This record gives sequence, structure tokens and C-alpha cells, in this order.
Amino acid sequence: MPKMARVLPISPENIAKAAQALQAGQLVAFPTETVYGLGADATNDRAVASIFEAKGRPRFNPLIVHVPDTETARGLADFSPMAETLAARFWPGALSLVAPLRKDSNLSLLVSAGLETVAVRVPAVESARNLLRAAGIPIAAPSANTSGRISPTTAQHVAAELGDRVAIILDGGPCGIGLESTVLDTTTAPPAILREGGVTAESIEAALGVALTVAASNDHAPQSPGMLTSHYAPARPLRMNATTANPGEGLLGFGPAPKAIRNLSPAGDLGEAAANLFADLRMLDTPPWTGIAVMPIPETGLGRAINDRLRRAAAPRN
Ligand code: TXA
Ligand code: MG
Repeated sequence: MPKMARVLPISPENIAKAAQALQAGQLVAFPTETVYGLGADATNDRAVASIFEAKGRPRFNPLIVHVPDTETARGLADFSPMAETLAARFWPGALSLVAPLRKDSNLSLLVSAGLETVAVRVPAVESARNLLRAAGIPIAAPSANTSGRISPTTAQHVAAELGDRVAIILDGGPCGIGLESTVLDTTTAPPAILREGGVTAESIEAALGVALTVAASNDHAPQSPGMLTSHYAPARPLRMNATTANPGEGLLGFGPAPKAIRNLSPAGDLGEAAANLFADLRMLDTPPWTGIAVMPIPETGLGRAINDRLRRAAAPRN
């Protein structure tokens, strides 16, 4: 039997243990406001390679580097004035900025998968920043799930899927946002959204006073694995914009829905829906349900990121 991860509650002692494990090149899963991350020392090639191994990622896709503050981020990437504006406005928070990689950054080349850019973010969860500060190294962290599957929003989700492949899982309870960060390429004018996420396109546009472009999904040369058409996928088929469930399907509601098995937000609140999305999908991806039917979600604000994840979950599998 492989050794199982230690699931540890957040405390100064446990953050110190997790920081030591990271320094030793081990994998540590930790909570952020978006989803749980599968962290490794971003300057250690072998540690970064073990992320791909643990997730069973088919290829080396670039990873987001997590740092405790903007100052540390500036040591890894060249920040344009626009990137500075966004960091000042949205960090700590659910926005990953893609910027030119600094030659002296010391990051493993695997982190940016050979690109000349790197994605960085400062997570909003305080324990995550404490962990990053204690480790004293930049931490590469994709979502802590098996490649292509639903992202984890609790420590239990991580333990179920990756428990035998990580040293420590820090348990900080359910994630507040529940959807991955927005990935924004700041190297183009106007900047491009590579993945919709916890920070809405509308709020970025308001902060910058420019309209963003949204990169189209491309299965052949994805810039982001989040751009693969089938991703975030439950094992059962998923149907969107359903008003009722077909036989065998579990109905996932939004707004008033007496027949729903789970409801993302009975009040129709998109923030609440985002926070519940992945846990509810996991719950309906179990017997006796043979499929998941999801009621319509408005295509505004966080609803865009929710619908993006649902479209990928509904897409034909490859
Ligand atoms: O919320 C999140 O972002 C979570 C938590 C743990 O922080 N992390 C996460 O990482 O979702 P991951 O590896 O699952 O997704 C990283 C996304 C991918 O779509 C990846 O292709 C993109 O960021 N990305 C990373 N570096 C990039 C780069 N240099 N250029 C373009 N896209 C990049
Ligand atoms: Mg992911």
C-alpha cells in the first residue's frame, strides 16, 4: 500500500511542517480561495516533474507560480505598468497574470513549459500566503486533482484522488470562490483572457478601462489546459440548460427548483453557485445517478466562468 498523505488542520506548526516538505522537494496540497493546489518547489525540476506525474497530466503544460506578495512576483516576471495596475487592484486574489519570464528567476523550465512567459498569482487565503512565506520559495501549483477531472474544493476531495501521492494535505475547509483563478495574458494589447475564473472579465475591464479579448478554446495547441474542450469532467455525462431531469439524471438546480437533487444557489446568487459547483458535481457523479442535468446559469459575471466549466464538462470526451 502506498503511504497516505497526512491531512493536517491549519496551524502554525502544520504550516511549518508543510513548508519543510516543500523545501525537501515533496508535494503539498494546500487550500486557496479558488481551489486546492498541488504545490511543489517551482525552482526544483524534479519536484515540478512530480506534479505532472501525480496528476497524470498527458503533457507538460505551464503551471501557475504562487508567491506571498507582489514584490516576490516582480523577481520572477517583468511587470508592465498594466500588470502593476492589476496586481495592485486584484492581489491577493483569484487572478493569474501571464508576464515575461525573468532570465534570473531561477524557476524550473518545466514550470513555464519552455514558454518565455510565466503565470503568477498571490492567493487571498492567509494560510496559503503564510505557507509561501515560510517555504521561502515560489510554489508551482495546479489544481490538486487527476488531470481532466473536477477540481477539488475540499481537503477530502484531494485525499480521495491524490491521497497516496502527496506528503501533506493542509485542510482549510471548503474554498470560498470554488472556481480556478482567471488567467490573463498581459503581454498582448489588449490583454487576453486565457481562462475565465474567479475574477470577472467585467471587473478587469473596469480596472483597466479597456476591452479584453477572450482566447478561443483550441484542442490542438492549447495555451492553457483549461482551454481543452473536454476538461473538468465528471465520469457521468452532463447536460446543460436543462429544465427537468431525464430518467436516471440528477438535477443540479440554480434558483427556485423543488425537483433539484442539489442546488447551486436557491437564491440565484452566482458567487454561491461558483463555490458549490465542483462539490455538487462530484456529489451527483455517484450512484444512483447515471447523468447530470444542470439548469441554466446566466452568462454574466461569475456565470461566464461557471458556464465555461460546464461546457467543458459536457463536451464529448477524447
Ligand atoms: O486557481 C488556480 O489558478 C489554481 C490554484 C491552485 O491556484 N491553479 C490552477 O492551476 O488552476 P492549473 O495548472 O490547473 O491551471 C493553470 C492555467 C492553465 O490553464 C495553464 O495553461 C495556464 O494557467 N498557464 C500557466 N502558465 C501559462 C503561461 N506562461 N502562458 C499561458 N498560460 C499559462
Ligand atoms: Mg486544473
